[in-house]
Amino acid sequence: MTLYAHITGWGIAVPDKILTNDDIAKMMDTSDEWIRERTGIQERRIAGPQDSTSSLASAAAIRALEMANISPWDVELIIVTTSSPEYIFPATASLVQDRIGAANAGALDILAACTGFIYALDMVTQTIRSGAFKTALVIGAETLSRFLDWTDRDTCILFGDGAGAFVLQASEEPGGVISSVLRSDGSGGELLSIPAGGSAQPASARTVQDGLHFIHMNGREVYRFATKVMARSSEETLSKANWDIKDISLIIPHQANKRIINAAARGLKLPIEKFVINVHKYGNTSTASIPIATVEAFEEGRLNRNDKIVFVGFGSGLSWGALSVIWTGPFPIEKAVPFKRLRFLARLISWYRRLVRKLDGLIWGRKGNSA
Ligand code: UT7
Repeated sequence: MTLYAHITGWGIAVPDKILTNDDIAKMMDTSDEWIRERTGIQERRIAGPQDSTSSLASAAAIRALEMANISPWDVELIIVTTSSPEYIFPATASLVQDRIGAANAGALDILAACTGFIYALDMVTQTIRSGAFKTALVIGAETLSRFLDWTDRDTCILFGDGAGAFVLQASEEPGGVISSVLRSDGSGGELLSIPAGGSAQPASARTVQDGLHFIHMNGREVYRFATKVMARSSEETLSKANWDIKDISLIIPHQANKRIINAAARGLKLPIEKFVINVHKYGNTSTASIPIATVEAFEEGRLNRNDKIVFVGFGSGLSWGALSVIWTGPFPIEKAVPFKRLRFLARLISWYRRLVRKLDGLIWGRKGNSA
């Protein structure tokens, strides 16, 4: 029996606060004109105090589950891919698991920077195709605004916050991710990084003073690398799937810079209309950019059942990759899932588990003291 992993639900969540190029031009020496011309970006969303990577990820996940009509109880695996995790550990995916009440799910994070969603989608596809799991969530979520030096015009004009989630479900019908290309070149790691806060340079007064906890980027080099790999990896995944480029109805690329997407279109000799572009609205939301662009393409009626599409991305690592995908959509609904009640139950379970842990701790503490 051959199994496939279909994308049957999707959702996004972006913060309410919009930061325009003009807003940034009031903070530093830049202009709306420069940013639009060099990147295509007009505005981006910025996380407010109430937002976090896990809150955005959970909101997107709940929307995706509702669309697929899947109860959180039936989710077996949650992968969050992010470069702005809530903590070094625990995994942001575990926080999401608790928030959405996915009591039967395993949860882990994948870090492959802006290529993370491509990697995570492929990893989940392989686990579903192996028969290990039937239902999983893949979420790309970022609050990179919290890692930006808001005096550095090279980086802070580019990035934005947001999250996108897909539900993946097993089926014997062909569909979902059909082929993949995943690549890395660690020799370019220093071109785009957050140098401190990990074990190489643990956080200290010095690292903070030197701004090493912020994103550092060599924009020109990353640009050169991106324009080389986007078309090449798209062609590689198409050849693995045995598909002709003419069969492709849409290419959904990582949204970093409109000029990079234009270069990919030239490289593939495709009209730019074949590409989904929404970088003007959200900036570069890193791992969230592909699912956010996908959901918007669907809402605009550009994505239909059985369409053959390509997801392609690149980012820090250096990393890059592409997937050939057959778009499915929700499976037929047998009985509507009572999401409101389940969400209330999820809160209750989380609260109950915390209470039991506290009481357990008190009892063990007393026993320990009297032993
Ligand atoms: O997910 C992956 C994330 N990273 C990327 O995708 C980054 C890829 N790189 C890029 O998108 C582009 O390299 C940037 C948008 C970052 C920069 O565009 P560029 O066309 O490569 O500009 P540049 O770095 O070559 O700089 C050109 C000029 C410089 O001035 P001089 O030296 O020519 O006088 C910069 O100082 O533009 C200046 N500049 C700016 N001017 C106004 C750089 N940033 C700004 C700015 N506003 N924000």
